Amino acid sequence: MEGEELREVMRRFPAPVAVVTTAVGGERFGLTVGSLVSLSLQPPLVGISIGKDSSSHEPIRRAGGWTASLLSGEQIGLAQHFARSGIPPIALWNGVDLRDGSRGPLVNDALAWLECRTSSEHDAGDHTIFVGEVESSELGRLGSGLVYRGGEYLPA
Ligand SMILES: Cc1cc2nc3c(=O)[nH]c(=O)nc-3n(C[C@H](O)[C@H](O)[C@H](O)COP(=O)(O)O)c2cc1C
Repeated sequence: MEGEELREVMRRFPAPVAVVTTAVGGERFGLTVGSLVSLSLQPPLVGISIGKDSSSHEPIRRAGGWTASLLSGEQIGLAQHFARSGIPPIALWNGVDLRDGSRGPLVNDALAWLECRTSSEHDAGDHTIFVGEVESSELGRLGSGLVYRGGEYLPA
């Protein structure tokens, strides 16, 4: 089976959208992900799968931790912004409503936030799966979340 065929299948399957960030060496990095998944409650573990070509891949490795802002249905613009390739790390943060977190910046007005220490990394083809132990979480606004399906963002 080819990767394109898998992409076509997964387009039908709604994926919840989050912005993952990290901070290392005084620089901040971030990207939109559809791969955030809850893995374990005891201990509290979540996972993300990050493309090895992504400019955030090595920073997430080096930082040893990352954050996830779980986007609300009203944050389509932010999801599009952080999915754009090739934006210089500094320009990425212009005009984005943020606050500092222990592992990287947190996007304001999200549904909830997770701050994670990477507890293991798993090679997964052209991606690396980062398993994060959740060090802290916070609840934000109550309301719809954001999913990506068929190439479109939809509130859910
Ligand atoms: C809905 C959606 C979900 C995405 N999920 C992931 C993901 O789980 N992991 C990943 O590495 N990239 C994912 N991407 C792609 C990254 O957001 C995009 O490649 C990133 O912004 C790359 O920037 P860079 O190439 O400048 O590093 C997703 C994109 C979209 C639109």
